[in-house]
Amino acid sequence: MPTPSILVTGGAGFIGSHTIVALTEAGYRPVILDDFSNSRQRVLDGLRQILGHEVPCYVQDCNDRTALLDIFQRENIGGVIHFAAFKAVGESMDEPLRYYRNNLGSLLTLLEVMLETGVSNLIFSSSCTVYGEPEVLPVTETAPVLPATSVYGNTKQVGEEILRDVVAAGKPLRVISLRYFNPVGAHPSAHIGELPLGAPNNLVPFITQTAAGLRAQITIFGDDYPTPDGTCIRDYIHVMDLAEAHVAALRTLPQDGTTSHYDVFNVGAGQGISVLEVVRAFEEVAGQKLNYRIGPRRAGDVVAVYADATKAHERLGWATKRSLREALADAWRWEKALL
Ligand code: WQD
Repeated sequence: MPTPSILVTGGAGFIGSHTIVALTEAGYRPVILDDFSNSRQRVLDGLRQILGHEVPCYVQDCNDRTALLDIFQRENIGGVIHFAAFKAVGESMDEPLRYYRNNLGSLLTLLEVMLETGVSNLIFSSSCTVYGEPEVLPVTETAPVLPATSVYGNTKQVGEEILRDVVAAGKPLRVISLRYFNPVGAHPSAHIGELPLGAPNNLVPFITQTAAGLRAQITIFGDDYPTPDGTCIRDYIHVMDLAEAHVAALRTLPQDGTTSHYDVFNVGAGQGISVLEVVRAFEEVAGQKLNYRIGPRRAGDVVAVYADATKAHERLGWATKRSLREALADAWRWEKALL
């Protein structure tokens, strides 16, 4: 019996592509399913340069049940990591139906096909956004899930509820949801990294594009928050540390005959860093000043959120190995490789 494969939906995306590297390095055989709505062929080229071989890739929509079933029947799938989703917070508020249809439709289709084909191991890509503005920091998995502040965030909350309910109904699924904090950086080879199509939504690609001269200036969205330097605080985690957390989670899914299992883990560095601290760290790493201005607050931003990742350390045997400065250096090397 050939080694089972791991189907990685959204595997050509930012976190997905880095997880392909981590899975391969851990001895798994990943298979990519991606509709390339938010990625480019160059990601596959970069993976080939890193891994030295082609990664099997199906260009399909995760909402397409027939296509999904065909992949499960062609490949010997032993587990799934489900990244495929739209993730732009602002866009989700303008196009709620498109976000609910895609993000929840793809999850439901995937679950139906997994149950039909008897594949039960699933890692679900969730987000710290489910915590909203936590009362207590660092935030643990037992913190209340607050009403989502965006449609995108709600698709993650509802996604977790669907998984929990399907497992509670006794369906043969073993599921871990990983609540990501802020993934940043790139693979140190600079063959893959964050590839925002159009204007980036997130802080670090905006910083590197500004430093590269692709953007005139970066706006810091508010410095009048109740934090030490007035700017928002987040938990920035190197994307390779995040990728490796998926391997650790996969290894932790019960293999003792347990048929139904659900658990949730925070995946963050466990340190609160402000926007201005990221800017200063980048200036040191890049050895150049960043052209920024202070602008108005951005709607929907929480003041501060960062992880208590103790549960992942203890139960997944996982911990971050890379620093914010390493992530910024890797992100900068990647940006320069794109020029
Ligand atoms: C970080 C900080 C901004 C850009 C989002 C999603 C979350 C997850 C990660 C998917 C904030 C500030 C940013 C800029 C700025 N995505 N900022 N100027 O909003 O914490 O999280 O991405 O799972 O679900 O919500 O990340 O990088 O957009 O912002 O000042 O040009 O940087 O205000 O304080 P965020 P971000």
